[in-house]
Amino acid sequence: MDEGVFNFDGDYGESYEALARQVIPGYRTFFPMFAALVEPDLPPGARVLVIGAGTGIELVTLKQVRPDLEVHGVDPSEQMLEIARRRVAEAGVEVSDGVTFQLGYAADVATTPLFDAATLINVLHFVPDDGSKAALLGDIAQRMKPGGVFVFFDLHGGGDPEEHERYLSAWRRYWTIRGMTGAEKRRFGARIREGIHFAPASRVVELARRVGLVEPRRFYTSLLYGGWTFRRQGGNNTLDSEATTGSDER
Ligand SMILES: C[S@@+](CC[C@H](N)C(=O)[O-])C[C@H]1O[C@@H](n2cnc3c(N)ncnc32)[C@H](O)[C@@H]1O
Repeated sequence: MDEGVFNFDGDYGESYEALARQVIPGYRTFFPMFAALVEPDLPPGARVLVIGAGTGIELVTLKQVRPDLEVHGVDPSEQMLEIARRRVAEAGVEVSDGVTFQLGYAADVATTPLFDAATLINVLHFVPDDGSKAALLGDIAQRMKPGGVFVFFDLHGGGDPEEHERYLSAWRRYWTIRGMTGAEKRRFGARIREGIHFAPASRVVELARRVGLVEPRRFYTSLLYGGWTFRRQGGNNTLDSEATTGSDER
């Protein structure tokens, strides 16, 4: 993450959720939608790992849908984690009971016991595709039970330049429609240019496969954003060992 551009411990973090609601098409509906989709995959008392927990929207949504879940929110930003803690506490005991927090990255999370499911929402685009995207996906995969569901939502792009430009310019017009001023659009546009590491969806699917996150299913698209589920590969670990020892991405 380039903290100079998207500083979640500074003013960007403070205003993050209001901005997300304004600029990410479908932001508010995405969370209950993914919860509805994956609920049948979560056994009673399932443990869910939420990487990049931000302001806690995944934590609260999952617990409201399924109070029996144990949800572990991880984030490297103290400010975001503090906002998440507050939001979870304010949501009442049914939500807060069974939610834990950790300041740090996926690699800092204990590797046992394994999680039944994991999420990575609005995070991977901050990570460069120099081995770091693959490493983050691998760190998550290593902490999941075989067969577990992985929910992924991110900005994609850069494969077909014409298509990328078409959606990017539509996205800029969307910001206008959603009420951003000219100065706000220039500032946010500069942040996107400087701080977002776009990768085509096909690239991310391939990186995920290499670390053992398979069966990609795209369930959501809004301009440059895409929502996917994957399944943690079980049984045969050939792909896992390729990813951790032989891959050029590590
Ligand atoms: C755009 S917010 C998304 C928050 C939440 N998932 C949502 O969709 O509203 C990105 C969050 O990811 C965190 N983050 C940035 N880089 C990260 C990384 N490499 N691993 C885990 N979290 C990261 C930031 O601190 C921030 O809280």
